[in-house]
Amino acid sequence: PRGTFRDEAGRVVVAGVPLTELAEQQGTPTYLIDEADFRSRARDFREAFSGWQIYYAGKALLTRTVARWAAEEGLKLDVTTMGEMRIALAGGMPAARLALHGNNKSDEEIRFALAEGVGRIVVDSFDEIERLERACADLGVKATVLVRVTTGVEAHTHEYIATAHEDQKFGLSIMGGQALTALVRCHSSQYLDLRGIHSHIGSQIFETLGFEVAIRRTCKLASQFRTATGVELPELDLGGGFGIAYTSADQPRPTTELAAAFEEMVEHECRAFDMARPTLSIEPGRAICGPSGVALYRVGTVKTVELEGGRSRVYVSVDGGMSDNIRPSLYAAEYSGAIANRRSSAEPVLSRVVGKHCEGGDILIRDVFLPGDVAIGDLIAVPGSGAYSRSMASNYNQVTKPPVVSAKDGVVTTMLRRETLDDLMRLDVGQ
Ligand code: LLP
Repeated sequence: PRGTFRDEAGRVVVAGVPLTELAEQQGTPTYLIDEADFRSRARDFREAFSGWQIYYAGKALLTRTVARWAAEEGLKLDVTTMGEMRIALAGGMPAARLALHGNNKSDEEIRFALAEGVGRIVVDSFDEIERLERACADLGVKATVLVRVTTGVEAHTHEYIATAHEDQKFGLSIMGGQALTALVRCHSSQYLDLRGIHSHIGSQIFETLGFEVAIRRTCKLASQFRTATGVELPELDLGGGFGIAYTSADQPRPTTELAAAFEEMVEHECRAFDMARPTLSIEPGRAICGPSGVALYRVGTVKTVELEGGRSRVYVSVDGGMSDNIRPSLYAAEYSGAIANRRSSAEPVLSRVVGKHCEGGDILIRDVFLPGDVAIGDLIAVPGSGAYSRSMASNYNQVTKPPVVSAKDGVVTTMLRRETLDDLMRLDVGQ
């Protein structure tokens, strides 16, 4: 997070909290979210993308507190499941500010969203349109919808988090014609209030080219819709996916630059298709909560492995791993890390930070130079852990999920408490 520093004693301090104190107070592993950092990134988006609707993507990290911060910062919220809707509402996010996503929403989720008055339902298939109409008829309400489209963009990111090429599960294809059919279908429905088009091309993206193509194709689709119906669609949602720096190799653009680029692209395409500028939305998740979070681990064992050619690598085992951050094993995601409890002048050595799970792929940081005197009891801080770490955590090997705490001006507040073995044991109701 912004403002992180090492104090005179060599301890890393985040949001006024020395991480050594955090470890003593909370144990390890623990995720710490810097409240001021989260809020300032939310504000950066609001200010840079002035006039746009900013949906925080709750899948990246959602707790009641986080929902409250988002609400207080004037953001809306992207939710995908009953659980995300429930937490968002419990945190005080007004239902009207929610957009419900998902390629396989259950009837229960659809009906709950309608009953609560969720602001937008982003429809993803013809089946869903039918089910939504039935639910509207039963409840006597009209649903406000966007149609999720597949723009055919090959986003430059890991395959599992690219979502706009043709051969994947999300959206209705522009190229195949289903997107236009779905828009016309929603437009002519007495149960649906069609507001516009939704596109999300993928996640952890640094280049604007993919967005440019997506904007061009969605604007073209909107103009075809206008030709077919005589109606101009009032909204365009461009999804999330803005990349953050996990290591020094990642170079994200400042939010103001990103916003300027988006403004220009939208303006250009609207002009090209002779369209009025629609109400625009984006859905950043990672870019708001990712850099605000740090994961803190304690070193349990240190082992040196001899490699070919006389080299060696130090395996530093910490007390967490793939259960609290699956991203390195799932997407070959890279992270950086540092000893957080002391300064060291020891020669840096090629190290690999690994977890405690029973898999060779249980790696948190594949390659990192740590001081050669890294030892049992040291704390390792991993930045960029605010997004998709706790939200994708598991109980693999029956480990308990770490807590998520917020910190502000040196004060630590628990958002999600640490799971206990009792929690795990209570779920196991067999004989
Ligand atoms: N909007 C929609 C419709 C999405 O599906 C997503 C992410 C977002 C917004 C937010 O994307 P962001 O700004 O956070 O990149 N678990 C993966 C990321 C999967 C993202 C899925 N959808 C990871 O850890 O990298």
